[in-house]
Amino acid sequence: MVNQTVSSPNQAPQPLLDISNLNVYYGESHILRNVDLSVGPGKMVCLIGRNGVGKTTLLKTVLGLLSPRTGNIALEGHSILHKTPDQRARLGIGYVPQGREIIPSLTVQENLMLGLEARPQGRKKSSAIPDQVFQLFPVLASMLRRMGGDLSGGQQQQLAIARALVGNPRLLVLDEPTEGIQPSIILEIEAAVRRIVESTGVSVLLVEQHLHFVRQADWYYAMQKGGIVASGSTDELSNDVIQSFLAV
Ligand SMILES: Nc1ncnc2c1ncn2[C@@H]1O[C@H](COP(=O)(O)OP(=O)(O)OP(=O)(O)O)[C@@H](O)[C@H]1O
Ligand SMILES: [Mg+2]
Repeated sequence: MVNQTVSSPNQAPQPLLDISNLNVYYGESHILRNVDLSVGPGKMVCLIGRNGVGKTTLLKTVLGLLSPRTGNIALEGHSILHKTPDQRARLGIGYVPQGREIIPSLTVQENLMLGLEARPQGRKKSSAIPDQVFQLFPVLASMLRRMGGDLSGGQQQQLAIARALVGNPRLLVLDEPTEGIQPSIILEIEAAVRRIVESTGVSVLLVEQHLHFVRQADWYYAMQKGGIVASGSTDELSNDVIQSFLAV
């Protein structure tokens, strides 16, 4: 008799995030079609695809900003479909939205403090911003009193990632963190994200178009017209294949 709780050495670890058969609509427009995707513990997974295929829609559904018509989203084996975005944040899902969305009229420090709200115990019991954030993004340490809106685009992106990290996530969800950012800062952000995965064991789900960054991931999924059309190890992903999924 097979007992499902018995683990064998060959069994893959339970995914941290497991998305199955997801169908999402905007009104009557069918956007996501039967999407299956999973992110293992400590893994970095990249979702690629052309503009408008549904990448942000998928991330927003994971965050709870959109509700699927069918399908499931599980975190460590438990469905989170009926959790609000706040509850999902406290369960350990950190989000860096496309376009960054830091608060321009708050200082860098105040923006970082907002990240504390996502911790399970909220802000009260943990009012310090962890040093690790400044080790990853040293530029922020020298700008704590500057207004968020006065930072460069690249600095704002670093602030947005740092704010998500302050919440102590288990899964960090990043939507095109290098969009509109100059190449030298892209490399810094890329290195920081890889370092986060390696040093903290956080899992990452990333939407990205920049080829060098895509290659930092362990695994990729390619989306076309709202469906996953290919997936595999990024070691097997040639530039030609990446381009064929990204080129307009
Ligand atoms: N609020 C909305 N209402 C109706 N349709 C929407 C809405 N937001 C997005 N869409 C449509 O859903 C589809 C998927 O959009 P989505 O933003 O998920 O694409 P994307 O893959 O993230 O694109 P990009 O690479 O440009 O960020 C697009 O056709 C878009 O026009
Ligand atoms: Mg998008």
